[in-house]
Amino acid sequence: MSEDVEVTIRLGGRTITTAYRRGATLLQTARSAGLRPPSSCETGSCATCMAQIVRGRAEMRNNDALTLDEVAEGWVLTCQAEPATPTVEVVYE
Ligand code: FES
Repeated sequence: MSEDVEVTIRLGGRTITTAYRRGATLLQTARSAGLRPPSSCETGSCATCMAQIVRGRAEMRNNDALTLDEVAEGWVLTCQAEPATPTVEVVYE
């Protein structure tokens, strides 16, 4: 996706909208925006970083943790996910 992708992240009562930097994951995007999202393995196998896409779409580079049903409901591993639409909103529970 191009540079003008916008990512909105909700985490711990805060909502931040930020420009997406090409090549970054949603986890890295959240960190760059000053948030402290949960993470552990960062290889797509533990699901510590999971969050739900509530607007737009994201694609995962690797998914060794989520079921197909969870993916269908919009859950992503943010350490593996990149935006696939011009706007993406992601919610950490
Ligand atoms: S940090 Fe383990 S799957 Fe993302």
